[in-house]
Amino acid sequence: MKLAICYYSRHHGNTLKVLKAMAQQGDTDLIDVTTRQAVRLDGYDGIGFASGIYGFAFHKAVVAFARQYLPEGKPVFFVSTYGGAKGSGAAAMADLAREKHCPVLGEFSCRGYDTFGPFRLVGGIAKGHPDARDLEEARQFFRKIRQRLEGGEQS
Ligand SMILES: Cc1cc2nc3c(=O)[nH]c(=O)nc-3n(C[C@H](O)[C@H](O)[C@H](O)COP(=O)(O)O)c2cc1C
Repeated sequence: MKLAICYYSRHHGNTLKVLKAMAQQGDTDLIDVTTRQAVRLDGYDGIGFASGIYGFAFHKAVVAFARQYLPEGKPVFFVSTYGGAKGSGAAAMADLAREKHCPVLGEFSCRGYDTFGPFRLVGGIAKGHPDARDLEEARQFFRKIRQRLEGGEQS
């Protein structure tokens, strides 16, 4: 069971922290969507897409990457971190998954330290996140995703 998670994580590396906790459980490649190398995703059993929330949504680079590289019908899941208000979150990714007939296995999000704009003046919000509990919940989520794939369960 081989998984890949394609991510954009720039603000404080919060999303990448969550993904590393997931990937510790083995057989998972983390792929930065800003790498300029061509990518092949057809060899994976499932693909995650992950992003910090910027302007109430996944970063456009993740959506564009999925549009280009996500194979038709591949099971997907979504992961994000956000400061305080995730807005539409992974909605654009869910739309794209539908277009490509990709079953959505699940979605995980937690808060991530945010010093964007005025929040910098107050020392940031969601300080300390993702914390140990967030990371444990992320690992649990990821175990469920694997179980779903192993059981062939689709939404
Ligand atoms: C340009 C920018 C826009 C952001 N917009 C939002 C937002 O709309 N809602 C929110 O809850 N957090 C927002 N944040 C906070 C990030 O979602 C949060 O810090 C996230 O954990 C960043 O992930 P990263 O460190 O993996 O990039 C924004 C941060 C930046 C830098």
